[in-house]
Amino acid sequence: MPQAKLTDRFGRTVNYVRLSVTDRCDFRCVYCMAEDMTFLPRQQVLTLEEIARLARNFVALGTEKIRLTGGEPLVRKDILELVREVGTYGLRDFAMTTNGSQLPTMAEKLRKAGLHRLNISLDSLDSEKFRSITRTGNLQQVLDGIDAARDAGFRGIKLNTVVMKGRNDEEIPELIEFARKKQVDISFIEEMPLGEISEHDRGLALCTSEEVREIIRRRHELIPVAKDSGGPARYYQMPDSDVRVGFISPHSHNFCSTCNRVRVTVEGRLLLCLGNEHSVDLRRVLRGNPVTDDKLQQAIIDAMDLKPERHHFSSNGEVQILRFMNMTGG
Ligand code: 5AD
Ligand code: SF4
Repeated sequence: MPQAKLTDRFGRTVNYVRLSVTDRCDFRCVYCMAEDMTFLPRQQVLTLEEIARLARNFVALGTEKIRLTGGEPLVRKDILELVREVGTYGLRDFAMTTNGSQLPTMAEKLRKAGLHRLNISLDSLDSEKFRSITRTGNLQQVLDGIDAARDAGFRGIKLNTVVMKGRNDEEIPELIEFARKKQVDISFIEEMPLGEISEHDRGLALCTSEEVREIIRRRHELIPVAKDSGGPARYYQMPDSDVRVGFISPHSHNFCSTCNRVRVTVEGRLLLCLGNEHSVDLRRVLRGNPVTDDKLQQAIIDAMDLKPERHHFSSNGEVQILRFMNMTGG
């Protein structure tokens, strides 16, 4: 039987789903959370079985790529069981975004459970700055986590750095050298106005991808990689290294026309766009009586009509989206 395809009103095929498995995290990154967060009560959070059921039905509708996100996915109890289950779905790409803090003990288990790839957040190589950005994070633990991921045999490890002026923009050259030394890819991300934060003025802190490229070019030639991954990142390579340097630029580059993804929050809200509030409550369907895979798939298919054409982030730091990234799925 030919596989069903999810297509929206603008002719975009959705074949990539990001599933948030928890809103909790052991860090409190300044761009992601308020210092004092209230997390969701247990009954509002999807069970691992519900998340697996969603994943299975997305795959039945043509999803080829799944990413588990959070919060921090590795603080969810029994996460390995979910990884093991989704690992049997025959995905072309099965990835996780993590802050890396649990990787020293988890990397090898994740690899054995069938995960293909890891994105690890790393905003600073200076332990004090790292602490001030993550509020609670320990740099050494994350560096050990990156090594553990390499030792576990993960290929396609990517570092994610949110660049903020006055906080970590001076570290761009060091982060590049670190990525080259460790032979891992790195993406620089413009901060997105998700959730109200108090730590810095986003309008002032915005460091555009073009500014980041200028800094890197003082030391390395950046050659655009011809083949695009279809995602929001634009990739470059340096002449003397295999490492890819990506730029995710929600402010300065609109990538919405090729958007192939949707997100599901840990409450089972299907988000059609990171930069818009449009959503469908899949938890209601999952907990309806009776629940059938047909009903679930129909709800997902119907939701595609709500996918907005584009996001409208403005660069003055104004918050248009009230949910935080930990609710959205980084
Ligand atoms: N802007 C950009 N990226 C963010 N992340 C979290 N909050 C934001 C934000 N406001 C991303 C970071 C982090 C991942 C978990 O989510 O890349 O590494
Ligand atoms: Fe946690 Fe990631 Fe948010 Fe930082 S950005 S607080 S590591 S979920």
